Amino acid sequence: MGSLYITNELSELLQPKDTQALEQSILKPTFLQKDDAGLDLVQLLKTSSFLLGCGFTLTFHCPLGIPSDELLTLFFHTLQDAIAFIKNHPTAHEEIPQTIQNYGKLLAEGKLVAFPTETVYGLGADATNEHAVARIFEAKQRPFFDPLIVHIASLDQLDGLVSEAPQSAYRLMETFWPGPLTLVMKKHPSVADIVTAKSATVAVRMPSNPLALALIKASGRPIAAPSANRFGYTSPTTAEHVHQQLSGRIDAVLDGGACTVGIESTVLSLYTDVPTILRPGKIGVEELKPILGDVKVAQTTGPTDTHLESPGLLENHYAPKTPLYLVEDVAEYKDRSDVGVLLFEQTDLEYKGPTQIISEHKNAEQAASRLYWAIRRLEEMHLSFMVSTLLPHQGIGVAINNRLKKAAIKHGQPSSL
Ligand code: TXA
Ligand code: MG
Repeated sequence: MGSLYITNELSELLQPKDTQALEQSILKPTFLQKDDAGLDLVQLLKTSSFLLGCGFTLTFHCPLGIPSDELLTLFFHTLQDAIAFIKNHPTAHEEIPQTIQNYGKLLAEGKLVAFPTETVYGLGADATNEHAVARIFEAKQRPFFDPLIVHIASLDQLDGLVSEAPQSAYRLMETFWPGPLTLVMKKHPSVADIVTAKSATVAVRMPSNPLALALIKASGRPIAAPSANRFGYTSPTTAEHVHQQLSGRIDAVLDGGACTVGIESTVLSLYTDVPTILRPGKIGVEELKPILGDVKVAQTTGPTDTHLESPGLLENHYAPKTPLYLVEDVAEYKDRSDVGVLLFEQTDLEYKGPTQIISEHKNAEQAASRLYWAIRRLEEMHLSFMVSTLLPHQGIGVAINNRLKKAAIKHGQPSSL
């Protein structure tokens, strides 16, 4: 992964001239190193593939008033995105803490604020304000039977949300929070029905993205937040994705670059007899078993059933506009200029249509971070359809396969090759 390490006012460091030099140096690739100015691309040369542009991070001093160190690291899929961020936020180190305070106030006033988490962007509202929560459903056009995850920044916020948690819950929190694990537990009577879709349980998670944590803290509230997309569409992993679907329907979007995990959190129910994964995510059975012993995995890609334990886990939940087909061998489509191809590793084959290489060597974590982003890029090209294979069924590959199946399932097989 590339790294732009910046310690001062961002715009002063990156004049238009530098931007060009930087872009050219990346493409060649020779590299530019400007220690004095705090710009350091050494990491980028060591670990990233320039042809793929696997991702860039931007690190700068930004005290957020939360217990993490004072360096904030933002992730971007392309150098252009990183540079655009610098141009749009030339004094990010001052602007971001101020914006977080302002947006925290908006949330406390019952407004809707979209914000980055490590998984996907969430659309936040004060979970204790029913009117604010109702606006989430309105903005997303989401049915009321689909309950929301409540996001917290500290464990004391569990009071008033959860009425009973098994011992294992605390061990899970200690191990995986803050992080991409959502726990479903018995709800506190004060949690409004609109948050939980009248269920006896509430889903809670503490995200690890420092901007998310700082925003929740600034609001002083538990924050109900589904993914910040219109209902039924792919989850957003950049602020731009949020604007595309929700612009004009919500009050603010906090731009924090691209989400690093890239797919939604693992949803684990501790309310069932045996703890049950309702939605697979980065944290899988292998990591949960040592703590829980037995873990079940709910069947979530069978026939559509509104009585699923997690009602949002419906078949077409992640549907892209361009049909996606899961195939055995994507190479069979290499002569189709109207077909987009998702690739999990580099290839020497020439494809006539557009390809998105989402990981270099079947690296599932990398693929997850780029999956939705790549699908959106292919969607913008107005292709006949897209094709992908599945990944080996292990680790985060399980969650990727789950999302790919959901995105593909309603389209069946391509009628002609
Ligand atoms: O990574 C994530 O979890 C992201 C970020 C923003 O935190 N959020 C997210 O929220 O994906 P959403 O609303 O798009 O998906 C939440 C899932 C839904 O499938 C919902 O049905 C399930 O969690 N869920 C929420 N509350 C539940 C409950 N009480 N019992 C069972 N499932 C629940
Ligand atoms: Mg969602």
